Amino acid sequence: MGEKITVSLIKADVGGWPGHATVHPDLIETAKKELEKEKGKLLIDFHVTNCGDDLELLMTHRRGVDCEEIHALAWNTFEKATKVAKDLKLYGAGQDLLVEAFSGNVRGMGPGVAELEFEERKAEPIIAFMMDKTDPGAFNLPIYKIFADPFNTIGLVIDPSATTGFRFEIWDILESKRVFMDCPEELYKMLALIGAKSRYVIKRVYPKKGGKLPPEEAVANISTEKLYKIAGEYVGKDDPVALVRAQSGLPAVGEVLEPFSFPHLVAGWMRGSHNGPIMPVSQKNAVCTRFDGPPRVIALGFQLSNGRLIGPVDLFDDPAYDQARIKAQEIADYMRRHGPFEPHRLPSEDMEYTTLPKVLRELEKRFEKLE
Ligand code: F6R
Ligand code: MG
Ligand code: MG
Repeated sequence: MGEKITVSLIKADVGGWPGHATVHPDLIETAKKELEKEKGKLLIDFHVTNCGDDLELLMTHRRGVDCEEIHALAWNTFEKATKVAKDLKLYGAGQDLLVEAFSGNVRGMGPGVAELEFEERKAEPIIAFMMDKTDPGAFNLPIYKIFADPFNTIGLVIDPSATTGFRFEIWDILESKRVFMDCPEELYKMLALIGAKSRYVIKRVYPKKGGKLPPEEAVANISTEKLYKIAGEYVGKDDPVALVRAQSGLPAVGEVLEPFSFPHLVAGWMRGSHNGPIMPVSQKNAVCTRFDGPPRVIALGFQLSNGRLIGPVDLFDDPAYDQARIKAQEIADYMRRHGPFEPHRLPSEDMEYTTLPKVLRELEKRFEKLE
């Protein structure tokens, strides 16, 4: 057991209410009860919430990332919640628990995971982002802006402890490999990758050597698990989460939130098969209604105090984000008018599931060769 603090954000959709809209309060209560049993033992502290139909477990401890006991606790909690979901006949009960039994680590088993282990600073602000109805590539644009775009983060220009820039760990989820890239030096090359957000996703961000923070401790982590494990064989959108540390040599809280004033287009929405705007909302408004969306993001802010989670502050519960929400709704109207046409509907290879192959198979016999 180290002195370092670990923050683990583990999430799963274990049943929607109704359909894929939100999480029933009984599931939240069940999860709280389970985690409460470990407070002061395995866990220092925890916070349970939901974003859309995803049940979110935020936990602090000193056991490091990928800790079997912590992952088992999350898995067992999701199983308990699944029981309740089945009893209430909630929609898709247990859908994200892809395997029969837990073995060692929830990665690749359905749930999404973002974890950071670090030496807690004198004051340690951390933001937990949670998205519903989209995939991890949805974080590429905001994470890039936060840590590499001087038009977003003025600290990159005027804070001497941030001007050296940051190091990005990028995963190719199609070929299951990764590359580290330094910004600002390799900014253009990095954009060539991460602009293709269905294939290249930012997994972690690190401080550079010689700065205020230890270069081996990641300062941001985005969940990419399911996609990585199932590379080549599509089983669904990930509804990703991310943890981002802030201030004192890192982007300020306001710089971390700033990219979300632009509701950029992400893949997901209805049937995981449409492009639509990501709408920043308060936690209570993270209910996916219109066309099962539009995709939503919430941001919960905490100060850490020896691992205690001092918060949450519901950071998008703020009129400063009203304009982004209005813009998101305008974009939703605009995109919806395309109906089944691309680019509202995703290209076939990016669609979560579809009856298209079946339709095409049926038509196969009727196709005639062109000369
Ligand atoms: C998107 C999502 C929903 C469902 C849709 C159809 O990620 O979860 O949009 O795809 O409600 O659901 P089924 O096929 O379960 O009726
Ligand atoms: Mg669902
Ligand atoms: Mg979901």
